[in-house]
Amino acid sequence: MTWNSFEIVHPVKDACLTIQTKRLLLSVYRPAAAKKVTDYLIKNRVFHKPYTQTHEPSYFTVAEQKSYLRSDLRLYNRNMMVPLWISTQQDPDTVIGRLSFYNIIGGAMMSSFVGYHLDEQAQGKGYMREALKAGCEFMFRYYHLHRIEADVMPTNARSLNCVQDCGFVKMGYNVEFMEIDGGYKDHVMMVLLRPKPE
Ligand SMILES: CC(C)(COP(=O)(O)OP(=O)(O)OC[C@H]1O[C@@H](n2cnc3c(N)ncnc32)[C@H](O)[C@@H]1OP(=O)(O)O)[C@@H](O)C(=O)NCCC(=O)NCCS
Repeated sequence: MTWNSFEIVHPVKDACLTIQTKRLLLSVYRPAAAKKVTDYLIKNRVFHKPYTQTHEPSYFTVAEQKSYLRSDLRLYNRNMMVPLWISTQQDPDTVIGRLSFYNIIGGAMMSSFVGYHLDEQAQGKGYMREALKAGCEFMFRYYHLHRIEADVMPTNARSLNCVQDCGFVKMGYNVEFMEIDGGYKDHVMMVLLRPKPE
């Protein structure tokens, strides 16, 4: 097993952890980063709508995002979540996406879910593949996970291509799995198991 897709570097401004990949920075932010997170969410509000739960207008405010960042940080500090905001090394102050490992379960399961989204303009460059591969390696290495699950709507070809390229395989089909854009939607259960030692 080789771990070479990332390096842990000095945290960027307003972050408490930063992972560097070939082109990207993946950071766990402090509440002070709320403005750049809110800018990203407002910019992509229409683009993200068909892929996310319905949000109240107050969700798109700095005050609300500050409170989400506070809650994410609490979960991160309890090893229950690793919420990574994505930026490029060229422009570390602009958020271009999010990759989040959540519902981390220890004990006999050692598993987590993963969710992600990109800025509309940042698609088509392989950024999410780069982030997801590094993020999964980080979770296997530092959280000793055995299994990572991504649930993807069957119509979301870009997302299915992305997880397949990262080694996830179909392990099931979850009917009416999650509330997305006003209704419970079916999802394909894609799973990545910890690579076996070489
Ligand atoms: C899902 C989502 C993250 C995928 O974005 P993406 O840019 O297609 O993801 P990838 O990182 O896998 O990029 C692959 C694309 O980059 C291209 N690419 C360009 N340079 C590349 C490089 N250096 N390495 C790899 N791929 C590269 C690939 O050819 C591919 O383009 P194509 O789809 O036109 O063939 C994005 O569409 C999104 O945010 N959607 C809305 C939210 C969402 O669906 N979230 C997931 C819910 S399950």
